[in-house]
Amino acid sequence: MRRTIIAGNWKMNKLFPEVEDFLFELSENLEAKDLGKIDVIICPPSLYMEIATDVAVDSKFYIGAQNVNDKDLGAYTGEISACMLDSMDIDYCIIGHSERREYYSETNEMINAKVKRLQENAIVPIICVGETLEQREQGITQDVILEQLNGAFKDIRIEENVIIAYEPVWAIGTGKTATPEQAQEVHFLIRNWIRENYSPLTADNLSILYGGSMKPANTAELLMQPDIDGGLIGGSSLDISQFTQMIDTALNIK
Ligand code: 13P
Repeated sequence: MRRTIIAGNWKMNKLFPEVEDFLFELSENLEAKDLGKIDVIICPPSLYMEIATDVAVDSKFYIGAQNVNDKDLGAYTGEISACMLDSMDIDYCIIGHSERREYYSETNEMINAKVKRLQENAIVPIICVGETLEQREQGITQDVILEQLNGAFKDIRIEENVIIAYEPVWAIGTGKTATPEQAQEVHFLIRNWIRENYSPLTADNLSILYGGSMKPANTAELLMQPDIDGGLIGGSSLDISQFTQMIDTALNIK
């Protein structure tokens, strides 16, 4: 069955004391809730992964990483591998985020290798795709998304769990959200691609998240779209009350 996912991508934010406060508060906020088909995920900076997994183990949320290297172990200074994440009981990992594609030159090939390493270690990849403003204005949004999907999923089987996040680059951190209709159109395209390349059942079961200036005020209209199964939330996931409100909205709608 398709899950609804409310995931917070903290990016490079928060100092240690705030991390503890946030996580304990989230744990408390979720304690009395019946989350049903909703999974809540926090993706903190990797430095905070240990405290995050310690709190999560007795709480109703999961921990994800923001990135992973495509090698297993070895002389790669500053990097973290999928088997290390697995050894810390990390359940999810964002890959191919547009900020990594743009600032760290990540290619579809690298993203594909990362999906493979994550699957080998039973970690669920959250694979990000999305077009830039220039690409949208050129009318090539669909081509860009399909190229990213073809690259990321090359030789990948999806019996294992995989999540896709559609994050239009022009909507990230800009306050400019895709309209529910614009987002739905691309989510439909993605689900259709999964249907054609895998199976109708896989397409039905796969969660596709929206990301890009998602906040309490626009969560309901986005989640009401038939192919939007949750959010990958940046700025609004840093604030415990906004993030909790968005979880509550998901609980009301899904
Ligand atoms: P914002 O919600 O801050 O726009 O960020 C979205 C995002 O990039 C999540 O991965």
